[in-house]
Amino acid sequence: MTTVLTDSPEEAASYLRRGQTVAFPTETVYGLGADAFNPDAVRLIFEAKGRPPDNPLIVHVATREQIDEVVASRSAAANRLIEGFFPGPLTVILPKSYAVPPEVTAGLETVAVRMPDHPVAQAFLRACGRPVAAPSANRSGRPSPTTWEAVRDDLDGRIGCILRGERAPLGLESTVVDCTVDPPVVLRAGAVSVEDLLEAVGELAFSPARGERPTRSPGLKHRHYAPSAKVIIVDHPPDELHEQEAYIGMEEPENPFLHQRICSSVDEYAYELFDFFRQCDAVGIQTIYCQKVREEGLGVALMDRLRRASENR
Ligand code: TXA
Ligand code: MG
Repeated sequence: MTTVLTDSPEEAASYLRRGQTVAFPTETVYGLGADAFNPDAVRLIFEAKGRPPDNPLIVHVATREQIDEVVASRSAAANRLIEGFFPGPLTVILPKSYAVPPEVTAGLETVAVRMPDHPVAQAFLRACGRPVAAPSANRSGRPSPTTWEAVRDDLDGRIGCILRGERAPLGLESTVVDCTVDPPVVLRAGAVSVEDLLEAVGELAFSPARGERPTRSPGLKHRHYAPSAKVIIVDHPPDELHEQEAYIGMEEPENPFLHQRICSSVDEYAYELFDFFRQCDAVGIQTIYCQKVREEGLGVALMDRLRRASENR
C-alpha cells in the first residue's frame, strides 16, 4: 500500500470516508483514525499497528452532537468534565450507544470519547463528518508519535494517508477518566492534571491504586511508551556517560554529554520525551537516564510514562 502524504484536512478526510486509515495531528500526539461506524476500517487500525485486539480505541468527535451519537448516557460528573475540558486533552469513558461497533470498544459496553483541541484535528474531524476511532499512530509498543515523520517511520506503507501538521504541542497522551462509576476513576494520567479534574468533579478514584497491577484500562497492561533502549530513572544527572548512553532531565550535568536534552520546565520535558526516545533509538543508544520530576500537575503523567518505559522491557 502506498501511504499518501497531504497537508489538506479535506483530502485526508476523503480517504477516511472511503474506509481507509488516516494519521492526523492532535494537541497530545498523532492519532491513527478510521471511520468509527465502519468495522472493516477499524480492523485496519489493529492490523497496521499490530495492536492487541483486546485494547479498545478512543472515539474522536468534532461536535457535542457527535458525543450523543456514540454514548448511551452521561453521568452528572461526565457532564461537568465535558463542560470543563472539551475540547481538550481529556478522554471520558461512558456507556456506549448501539451505533458503536464492538471492533472499536474491543467488545466492551463502554466507549472512550475525546474532542481534540487542535485546529488541524478539528478541521479533519469536521471534514470526516462522523466520529473517528483512533489510537496513537505508532507501531504497538513504540513511543507515541509527536511528529508526522515519526508516524511515517512506524507506519509507512501500512496506512492510507498521513495528514501532516506541526509537532504535537503537548507531547503526552490525554488523561483517561472512567465516568461509568461514581466517583469517576482516573485510568491514565495525562495532559489534564488531576488537580484540574478535582476542581471540576470534587472526588476521584485512581486505578491502579499505588502498587497494584494496571488491568482496568485494557491498554494499560500492554507494553507501552518504551524506546528500545533501557530507561533508568535517576534523581540527578550521572557524573559521566559512556558511549551509547543518553540523558534527559531538567538539571544540567557538570559537563555537557554528547546525547542529552535539558528541559527548562516539566511542560518542556513532556513535550520532548517521546521525541527524544525515538532519536535515541535512531542512533543506537542503549541506555537513557531520565531525571525524576515532582509528581504534581503534568509531572504525574510524565512520571507515569517514565515508569512504564523503565519497567516494560
Ligand atoms: O491523547 C490521546 O489520547 C491519543 C490521541 C490520538 O487522542 N490517543 C491515545 O490512544 O493515546 P491509545 O489507544 O494509545 O490509548 C487509549 C487508552 C488505552 O489505554 C485504552 O485501553 C484506553 O484508552 N481505553 C479506550 N477505550 C476504553 C474503554 N472503553 N474502557 C477503558 N479504557 C479504554
Ligand atoms: Mg497508544
